[in-house]
Amino acid sequence: MTETTTSDEPRYVVDDLIAEDIDAYLEQHQHKTMLRFITCGSVDDGKSTLIGRLLYDSKMIFEDQLDALHADSKKVGTQGQEIDFALLVDGLAAEREQGITIDVAYRFFSTEKRKFIVADCPGHEQYTRNMVTGASTADMAVILIDARKGVLTQTRRHSYLAHLLGIRNIVLAINKMDLVDYDQPKFEHIVADYRAFANEIGIEDFLAIPLSGLKGDNITTRSDSTPWYDGPTLVEHLETVEVDSSLDQAKPFRMPVQWVNRPNLDFRGFSGQVATGTIQPGDAVRVLPSGKTSTVSRIVTLDGDLDEAVAGESVTLCFADEIDCSRGDVIALADNPPQSADQFESTIVWMNDEPLHVGRAYWLKVGAQMVSVTIHEPKYIVNINTMEHLAAKTLELNEIGVAEIVTDKQIVFEPYGDNRVLGGFILIDKMTNATVAAGMLHFSLRRAQNVHWQAVDIGRKQHASLKNQQPAVLWFTGLSGSGKSTIANLVEKKLHRMNRHTFLLDGDNVRHGLNKDLGFTEADRIENIRRVGEVSKLMTDAGLIVITAFISPFRAERDMVRAMLPEGEFYEVFIDTPLAVAEERDVKGLYKKARSGELKNFTGIDSPYETPASPEIRIDTTKMSPEEAATLVVDTLLGDI
Ligand code: ADX
Repeated sequence: MTETTTSDEPRYVVDDLIAEDIDAYLEQHQHKTMLRFITCGSVDDGKSTLIGRLLYDSKMIFEDQLDALHADSKKVGTQGQEIDFALLVDGLAAEREQGITIDVAYRFFSTEKRKFIVADCPGHEQYTRNMVTGASTADMAVILIDARKGVLTQTRRHSYLAHLLGIRNIVLAINKMDLVDYDQPKFEHIVADYRAFANEIGIEDFLAIPLSGLKGDNITTRSDSTPWYDGPTLVEHLETVEVDSSLDQAKPFRMPVQWVNRPNLDFRGFSGQVATGTIQPGDAVRVLPSGKTSTVSRIVTLDGDLDEAVAGESVTLCFADEIDCSRGDVIALADNPPQSADQFESTIVWMNDEPLHVGRAYWLKVGAQMVSVTIHEPKYIVNINTMEHLAAKTLELNEIGVAEIVTDKQIVFEPYGDNRVLGGFILIDKMTNATVAAGMLHFSLRRAQNVHWQAVDIGRKQHASLKNQQPAVLWFTGLSGSGKSTIANLVEKKLHRMNRHTFLLDGDNVRHGLNKDLGFTEADRIENIRRVGEVSKLMTDAGLIVITAFISPFRAERDMVRAMLPEGEFYEVFIDTPLAVAEERDVKGLYKKARSGELKNFTGIDSPYETPASPEIRIDTTKMSPEEAATLVVDTLLGDI
């Protein structure tokens, strides 16, 4: 085996400046640029060794050690101690093993030229979630390849995800070159292989470096064993590659508002991190979605006011005028604002064990905006080994698909390719609060752009006042045969007698008309309730008291309808009849059919019913007659209104 220029002797030394002048060092350190990168690849490709080598071999200093230095500069003398390389690697590997099931391991370090945050992403497929987390903020991806094995499935998978998540700098770190005798043809072969794949997925450029993490070849110093390689070492490249934040500065100014800062009546500022562009006092800005304009009067930070803030900096902006601006709004240049829309094409990376429910409402978080969203059936999913587009009804764990999505409110956005902050989103399950997917907005759908909300002069207030009543929705939910229709019918009769304007929407009836195209699969039930929710909302806009009687078995959709209506107008009426009792009654003979297998997807038998957690009204039909139940509902409604 050939000797390398970097020996195995420990060379962990601390910058001379630290020992001489700690303040000067810290000052210099603070003004270094920051590069965020991820390392990814297959299991056993030598990632821990490579990271260990990077930290060990390049005069790098851990940020936590810097903090310690800051706190007690007397400790400087002890920082020059030598660290054993093998021990360092073992430590990293052990840490990774533990971290592997929870998250990405982030490591902070710096060289004389730059500061770095490296997100160390596990190689297994099931940790796509971690890879996405690490990559979403990275400027660069270092994709490791074992020189003996070449391009593997995970190499392709991770490259595709890195590219999808907007990483434009890709380094192909062809590791373990010592184990293939630094063979140039082997290296070239892998590069050609990777290039063919990279072209296919749209990666325009990448830098391939022949390395040995173990021996230290081409990490900090050019290796004598690869005389045929004339590119930079890994560290040279890390220190000089252009970071995205400098590219982001050239883009128009945008800042999502994270919170409104109002410590006293004299101060009102809007805090957040500048996503793109630069801003100075005196610049004209526009707050979106309201479109109101003002001028920046001050840029405030903990270290005093600034003359300019640039992409990546966290600041508080004050305006010359008192205009409305709240958390989730976006501040942009007045004459160059981003668009707003509520329908998009997007790529979604599904990261949850439970598959996507088409049509169900999830939370979508983009920038600091949080809205309700529903996802259409995917247009296709991508097989990232073959790049084939496949048809799919849903998205399963680790699947990547393209689908149209619809938000319940307009959101301020930019395509992900232009702005990762205003184009990247996560989806959150409304019930469990789990982050179930990450995604990227491609563009808004034209139909959303061209359909505007038409302002009308006679609105819900006028309709309701003519009827002299407060609109409401009495939403009955419960098993088939629980008594929903019977009680709902009595409630309507009582209200009608009291001259209230009502309308009853009943499951069986609506399924003969508006919803006759729907069956009883999970997706169809979700759509059934969505439509009934929208109709109920229109009817309350018309001033009516709406009574609905649908099984509505899923909490998510009941909550979706609740969220469509003004606070206090939605009454969830849980008709609580035990399954055994409903089945015993079996008014329509459907339970018998379901038990015999003649009827599929029957609620309570082979399809779930999710009990309401805190309904406004609960009716135990084993203890109350329908008449008593109806009186309770009417009294609650009228007593409340
Ligand atoms: S929901 O689940 O989508 O809310 P919905 O209330 O509209 O259901 O319809 C339920 C009615 O359809 C039941 O009262 C019953 O008469 C009939 N039905 C037919 N098949 C089923 C089924 N598989 N599950 C439940 N109800 C069914």
